Amino acid sequence: MSTVILIFGASGDLTWRKLVPAYYSLIGKERLTTDITIIGIAHHDLGDQEFREHMKDGIQRFATHEIDAELWAEFSQNLHYLKMDVLDESLYPKLNDYLREKIPGEQNRVYYLAISPALFIPIISNLCANGMMTEEEGYRRVVIEKPFGHDYQSAAELNRHIHSIMNEWQVYRIDHYLGKETAQNILFFRFANTIFEPLWNRNFINSVEITVAESVDVGHRGDYYDRYGVLRDMVQNHLLQLVAMVAMEPPAVLEANALRNENVKLLKSIRPIQLDDSVRGQYIGYRNATGIAKRSQTPTFVALKLYVDNWRWQGVPFFIRSGKALRQKVSQIVLHFRRPPLQLFELQELEHMTDNILMFRIQPDEGIQLSFQAKMPDSRAGRLVEMSFDYDTSFKGQPIPEAYERLLLDVILGDASLFSRSDSIEESWRLVDPLQKAWEENTGPALTFYETDSWGPVESERLLSNAGYNWYRIDENGTGGEEEE
Ligand code: BG6
Repeated sequence: MSTVILIFGASGDLTWRKLVPAYYSLIGKERLTTDITIIGIAHHDLGDQEFREHMKDGIQRFATHEIDAELWAEFSQNLHYLKMDVLDESLYPKLNDYLREKIPGEQNRVYYLAISPALFIPIISNLCANGMMTEEEGYRRVVIEKPFGHDYQSAAELNRHIHSIMNEWQVYRIDHYLGKETAQNILFFRFANTIFEPLWNRNFINSVEITVAESVDVGHRGDYYDRYGVLRDMVQNHLLQLVAMVAMEPPAVLEANALRNENVKLLKSIRPIQLDDSVRGQYIGYRNATGIAKRSQTPTFVALKLYVDNWRWQGVPFFIRSGKALRQKVSQIVLHFRRPPLQLFELQELEHMTDNILMFRIQPDEGIQLSFQAKMPDSRAGRLVEMSFDYDTSFKGQPIPEAYERLLLDVILGDASLFSRSDSIEESWRLVDPLQKAWEENTGPALTFYETDSWGPVESERLLSNAGYNWYRIDENGTGGEEEE
């Protein structure tokens, strides 16, 4: 059966940079057949030809499958543009007729909302009111991009509205971090091996660190970013989802709802975040960017200490941090194991560096690394050495796909495992909301300023050192020891 992808907001960056290149790459790699029609919808005056040229440029720059003339010719024939005011209710029956004429017979439909969140409800209400979500002639699925609400209440309202007119299983809320190959490998690593899982708890793990650092600044997204800030932009979604992947219990079966039940259970177990366990920073120069208020208090950096109140993780701190305009783009998860109960040997590193460490490098330089002590030759002392797995060596010639490829394919396959369910979204808002509100009221630790090209404010180091820990240092090559304060 033919599949139609309708992208609302098709003139935006996401369609050009991620979505169309991902569909093209999926077809190029024969993960999808060419029986797919993509229709971009936006309010700009554009013809099919101009739209195709723009998309071709995006594919040339960003697709993981090289553009080739034959495939492009076939692909571009099924790429169309439709100018439409999505708030005009009278246009939806026409849109439905247009789709029926364009693709005769039964068809599956994916409605992709790559558009301002203010338009989510009007669009899905109109789709439902015109019978365009009824699954009599193929499936009907809606993909929703973040931000999914701007706080708990708005997210819950959006979910309530969705549930009053369509089924939860028709909704795919994208969190592109879950589509990253290396993030998916966390669950694989944990539940496909026996050696680590018995150690995966408070008895053996001392602390967990998650860093999602970006070297880019706010760029041209000032308008959006200044209203959202790092807590809403990164923590509510990507970082909490990574915490859930590291900390959740194994599901009984590998099936979307079983996985998502464990995900929600974990999020529910996170203790409310204490204001004193938070650090907020803003990079110097942020206020000069376009779209930013001159006295903006919006944080571009956050560091938090979290606790998971369950049997497995009681008492183990989870330190998470994220920020813009930092020294390096790097996302990694570091698990520090406890030290041996008795230290018999002389170790080269300082005492606080002697933990066994397991590190997931999400990006770049994707891989997993285990550090342990080894005796140095011809010496009485030992030092940390590493065992490493990296994708380049072990899976040579198999490039890591873009997160969107996996996610867009899963929407078509109907596998919602890597998409956030409504209750997961609400739980994560429930966690960040009080902090966000306190920061907006300027209570708790003050906003601090940090130099670009650093690792954020010094308070972030103190958050850990006060508790006897240190961030694992990130070297140029993505590996290293503990960070210096
Ligand atoms: C997005 C945020 O969700 O993730 C951006 O809105 C951020 O601000 C981006 O830059 C980071 O994604 P990645 O895949 O580049 O780490």
